Amino acid sequence: MSTEPVKILFVCLGNICRSPSAEAVARAKIEAKNLQDRIEVASAGTGAWHVGKSPDERARAEAEGRGYSMAGFRAAQVSAADFFAFDHIVAMDHDNLAELQDRAPADGVAQLSLLMDHAPHLGRSEVPDPYYGGRDGFSLVLDMIEAGVGGLLKKVK
Ligand code: 4NP
Repeated sequence: MSTEPVKILFVCLGNICRSPSAEAVARAKIEAKNLQDRIEVASAGTGAWHVGKSPDERARAEAEGRGYSMAGFRAAQVSAADFFAFDHIVAMDHDNLAELQDRAPADGVAQLSLLMDHAPHLGRSEVPDPYYGGRDGFSLVLDMIEAGVGGLLKKVK
């Protein structure tokens, strides 16, 4: 039986730190379980400042240090079509979620959530923006992303 894959879009502000990290973690977990035909993932930002750029060096270093690849990733901005193309749109923080709720077309099909909704044991509601902080912030962010993506993938697969 062939069924349509579940499609997940991870969203942050710039699409150069948190959401591409979530995409990279999800890709690795999906490949490890050989679920590429069942679950598709992508990422985007609510903002357009970094469109076309590679992920932030600090995010990439943290991800690569844990064996995740962001090779070929380029930042994109969320579009109206995304609310129809994806089953789940998963925001990193409350601002991202509010932006998505504002922009969602009335007949959009995507279910909106916060990544931390999928890791309730952490007791955190959002993945903080690491952009203006130090390296420690990127490590903490990736810990949270690993937990959230793990919980999300268990639910959807
Ligand atoms: P991200 O991080 O939303 O996790 O990709 C940021 C990247 C860039 C900016 C803010 C946050 N910025 O202000 O340019």
